[in-house]
Amino acid sequence: MDKVKKIGQAIHRYYEQKDIVSPDLIEAILYSVDGGGKRVRPLIFLELLEGFGVALTDAHYDVAAALEMIHTGSLIHDDLPAMDNDDYRRGRLTNHKKFNEATAILAGDSLFLDPYDLVANAELSAEVKVALIAELAHASGTYGMVGGQMLDMEGEERKLSLSELQLIHANKTGKLLTFPVVAAGIVAGLAGEDINNLRKAGSLIGLAFQVRDDILDVTASFEEIGKTPKKDLLADKATYPSLLGLEKSYDILNESLNEALAIFQKLSETQGLRTEKIAEMIERLRLNA
Ligand code: IPE
Ligand code: IPE
Ligand code: MG
Ligand code: MG
Ligand code: MG
Repeated sequence: MDKVKKIGQAIHRYYEQKDIVSPDLIEAILYSVDGGGKRVRPLIFLELLEGFGVALTDAHYDVAAALEMIHTGSLIHDDLPAMDNDDYRRGRLTNHKKFNEATAILAGDSLFLDPYDLVANAELSAEVKVALIAELAHASGTYGMVGGQMLDMEGEERKLSLSELQLIHANKTGKLLTFPVVAAGIVAGLAGEDINNLRKAGSLIGLAFQVRDDILDVTASFEEIGKTPKKDLLADKATYPSLLGLEKSYDILNESLNEALAIFQKLSETQGLRTEKIAEMIERLRLNA
């Protein structure tokens, strides 16, 4: 079965346990989960793990699911009226439009907390689980996605410099794309300098990913991105294209992906990483002007 399908199944497995407290909450959670995201973050984790020669088990899919859950929660909250106020996500109505704001806030809360239950109970060694949980919490919270979202909101009030925008992108998006790269190294038993190199590759993919998202806001259609196009443009939001122009943004996207590829190439020489699948994924993130 394909990986995307198995990621969805792992999330469903978690929400189909006995003693469900609120069926309405689960309905709202699964509405956003099943909206058909690209699953880029969990796929990076799984493809890299296989690249390191690890045979995938349900436990690895639980980690992949946990990451996708936090990401999906971040989208639900990002779309709320108090934040980006978006009506569409993943090709359908946003969670608060489909249900209501309180439900969307609570669905997001669940998707931020349930992943730790899932990972803590996965069939992995206690040592690996603690390392994964520490890494995931740090990437998601005050020192990662949430911190970046706060800077992003504050930044809407004024003109931002490139270094301020870099810091926002590195945190609001970069950290949750770095997690799968580092997590694959943790599960594969890597340490020290290898983990540092993976972290660097992950942050490069993370930067590329938000620059790509910023470019698509300007260039793509609703059908292509499943959310309202030109939102950033009309809101005069600080983005890579608005600060540097489209052409330079494409260059940064491609150069960041090249640098990440070079790090994986080095790991193929020193750690036997098979880079074919991760390289294919990285190629799919490129956009042509
Ligand atoms: C959108 O992420 C939000 C960003 C951090 C740029 P994705 O582009 O991965 O969204 P889905 O998961 O495919 O819907
Ligand atoms: C979102 O950035 C980053 C998150 C933490 C969700 P954006 O606000 O640019 O994401 P989209 O364009 O709404 O998907
Ligand atoms: Mg936003
Ligand atoms: Mg948004
Ligand atoms: Mg965006």
